[in-house]
Amino acid sequence: MADLYKDPIATAQEAADKLASITGKDKHDVALVMGSGWISATQALGQPTHEFAATDLPGFLAPTVAGHGGVIRSYTLDGAHGKQNVLVFLGRTHLYEGKGLEPVVHGARTAVKAGCKVIVLTNACGGISLDYTVGQPVIIRDHISMTATSPLIGADFVDLTDLYSKRLRDLIKKEDPTLAEGVYAHWRGPAYETPAEIKMLRTLGADLVGMSTVPEAIAAHALGAEILGISLVTNAAAGVTGEKLSHTEVMEAGAAAAGRMGELLRKVLNNL
Ligand code: HPA
Repeated sequence: MADLYKDPIATAQEAADKLASITGKDKHDVALVMGSGWISATQALGQPTHEFAATDLPGFLAPTVAGHGGVIRSYTLDGAHGKQNVLVFLGRTHLYEGKGLEPVVHGARTAVKAGCKVIVLTNACGGISLDYTVGQPVIIRDHISMTATSPLIGADFVDLTDLYSKRLRDLIKKEDPTLAEGVYAHWRGPAYETPAEIKMLRTLGADLVGMSTVPEAIAAHALGAEILGISLVTNAAAGVTGEKLSHTEVMEAGAAAAGRMGELLRKVLNNL
């Protein structure tokens, strides 16, 4: 593993080159990373031109979590501005898998090296704000990193002021003006938060909490991509309702909201 990520950007370039040879597409334009429960939302995109195991590309690890597929698809879609090649990751590697941050951000880096200027990161999350209901999609306006780690190494002082692109947030809200925006806290997991930790996160200004997205957003932005983050509230965060949290509940809420999510993604892609 150490060797594979000795030069993580070079490994991402190798993965992008292999992607081009598998798909016969010189470049991809947009990437979607589909989080827990989001996978069936891709039905709205129609038929992919290619589908293969993520492990067919250098640097990708086999998935370890139910509902995290480890599959890559390539689509060619007609958009308002012509044809676009869309790269879709069904599943991702998480920090809680204990393999470090390189495999967590490898997909996002590969997407940028493949030419993607926009990366759409989706996830399932707990709702901290009392305004949210289960099954509601929320646009990520900003984040709070609670993991005390970064995918960037060395003096890479990247500005994160507009990490979750205002242009893309405005674009998606034009498609669906009912969409709320919120601040996402990245929790390492794999244990869910305690009720006291949720209280702390709310006090700090977080509206949503989950175990992904933030490292990928930082890594892709550092390479120049524009980021759109969409969270699906799959449960009230710990202590909010007194209900216990379960991964099954998270997956079910995702499946129930998949239709609406797919339509939304299709419209956003159409207008990029
Ligand atoms: N906390 C952290 N991650 C999550 C949650 C949660 O409540 N729900 C889905 N992913």
